[in-house]
This record gives sequence, C-alpha cells and structure tokens, in this order.
Amino acid sequence: MEHSFIFVSIITAQLLLFADAVHIGVDYGRLGNNLPAPRDVINLYKRCGIESLRIYDPSPQVLDALRGSNLRVSVGTRNEDLPSLASSQAAANSWVNTNVAPYRNNININWITLGNEVIPGPYATHVAPAIINIQNALRSIGLTGIKVTTVTSMILASSYPPSAGAFTSETTAVMRNVTFVLKQTGAPIMLNVYPYFAYASDPAHISLDYAMFRARTPIVDGQFQYFSLFDAMVDAYYVALKRIGAGSVPIAVSETGWPTAGNSPYTSIANAQTYNRNLLNHVTRQGTPRKPGGIMDTFIFAMFNENKKPNGIEQNWGLFYPNISPVYPFIHC
Ligand SMILES: *[C@@H]1O[C@H](CO)[C@@H](O)[C@H](O)[C@H]1NC(C)=O
Repeated sequence: MEHSFIFVSIITAQLLLFADAVHIGVDYGRLGNNLPAPRDVINLYKRCGIESLRIYDPSPQVLDALRGSNLRVSVGTRNEDLPSLASSQAAANSWVNTNVAPYRNNININWITLGNEVIPGPYATHVAPAIINIQNALRSIGLTGIKVTTVTSMILASSYPPSAGAFTSETTAVMRNVTFVLKQTGAPIMLNVYPYFAYASDPAHISLDYAMFRARTPIVDGQFQYFSLFDAMVDAYYVALKRIGAGSVPIAVSETGWPTAGNSPYTSIANAQTYNRNLLNHVTRQGTPRKPGGIMDTFIFAMFNENKKPNGIEQNWGLFYPNISPVYPFIHC
C-alpha cells in the first residue's frame, strides 16, 4: 500500500513535470530602449522553462548570449536582405557564415525565417529563391537539421467558415512557390495568427468566449466543430494550403497573443492572461479540428512590452515589463 502510494506519487509528479515541460515559445521582440541585457533575457527564458525563442534579426549580442543555452531558436533575416539573399548564392553563403556557422556547436538553431510578413509586398517574390539559397549554404557546410522557411500573416481572401479558406489573389502564386520548396524539406510554414484583431474588429458577431478558447456552443463547419477562433483561423489557413496543393506542409504559429492595454475593454490584463493560459493548455495537448493530432510549435507574442513601437496596443503585448516583473501571473519563474 505504502509502496504503491509512493509509486503513484512519483508517476503523478512525473506527469505534472511532463505537463509543465510544454513546447512553449516566446517571441523576443527588441523594439524598446529600456529592455534588459540579452544575457538577463536568456536567463529569464531558462528560469521560466520557456523552450523556444524567436528573434527577428540575427543580432550578434543576442546570439552570443544564447551560446550554451539549449533553447530552440528561430532566427529571422532582415526583410531588406531578401533581394540579395534571393539573387546571390554568395550573399546567402555569407549570411550563413556570419550568423549561423560561428554558433553551430553551441546554439540550437531550429528555424531560419526568410522575411516576416513580406507576402504580399515588394519582397514577396524573393522569399522562395532566398529559402533555396540559404538551404544550399547550410548544406554546403554540413548543416541539414535547420528548418528554413518564412513567416506570413493571415493572407486569406476568406476565412469563415474555415472550409472557405483561400489565399488572396495577390498571394496565391507566391505561396505556391514557397510551399513547393517547403514540401521538399518538410519545413513548416510559419503563421502569425491574432484572434484579438478579428474579435476587436467585430465584437458584435464574435463572442469573447470564442476568442478565449471557451465557447460552449461550437461553430459547425461541415463535419467539424469549432470552439475557438484560433482553431478556426489556423484551419482556414490549412484549407487555403490544401487548395494550392500544399496540405502536407505543417503550420507553426510564429506569433499569437493578446494585448493588455490600449483598446479597453477588449484589451485587459485579465483577457491577456486568459487567452495565453488557454492557448497554452490547448496547443500543448491537441491540434485543430482538421488536424487533431498535429501539435504545433507555438510562439507567444511577446516577451516584453516594447516602448519603441507605436503608441497604444502595439506597446502592450508583453508577458514582462522591461524591469523583468511579470505583467500578470502566467509563467511561474
Ligand atoms: C514562381 O516560380 C517560377 C519558377 O521559378 C517563376 O517563374 C515565377 O515567376 C514565380 N512566381 C512568383 C509569383 O514568384
């Protein structure tokens, strides 16, 4: 009896540990003039058990601070570097030699993202060729495990219901080319998905409960039932991928979150806390109705409130204030 009690307790403790060790990622946005030093930020990630970190440019200070950290890292190229990375293999080799090779033995770079939300736009046609050149550059120095991809927003012409998901006419051809490349490597397409903006722009028709992963009655889409706007948005994107023959490309969520201030009552500390807590419970346990087994890597936007962003909601996405105190209890560290 006593033994089995101890045994059960150990199992329970391990399950709890396992449940805590979720694949949580947080975006490390750095548009603030009062943010902690990169080394303190990396220590904060580690202390909080945050496993993945995304940076938007290959900052040498951040990369140096990441050495030996074991975090899974997503490194972005600067958008304005895309034309040269796309047109010149030498430029791509040089990017990899500067930003990847020096860290290959002590940083777990898991993703490289060619552009953040550049489709549609003047850089869009450079994305696929830039991915290919960076892949070639990595392969030429024997690095084959890094997923090379890009980050898009919800570039859909329609997303409701999810079965209507389709890329806009100006993005379809580019997305065909990008996913053609991703299909060959198994890299995910990365998606910035913001139920907040959908909800705040139409609160008369979208319920807060649906935005917060806690709808009681589902939205029915054929054989599928949606209890959250997040799932509906991701699945609309998945349907759009299928429509261009790219249903096998996995989706990773590169940004999602909820602002704590700037557009009351939709923004609030309570709403942000609820959204992010329910998001984590959801994405670490299950996929979406159309891909129930597909656990997605998911990054929460963002680590800190960033005071160099535009006034209002844009400055208020952080889990932490710049002085490292939490904006709300969420991650225990
Ligand atoms: C897609 O790729 C093809 C073949 O490389 C190229 O000719 C075409 O211009 C690309 N289209 C877009 C929109 O990037």
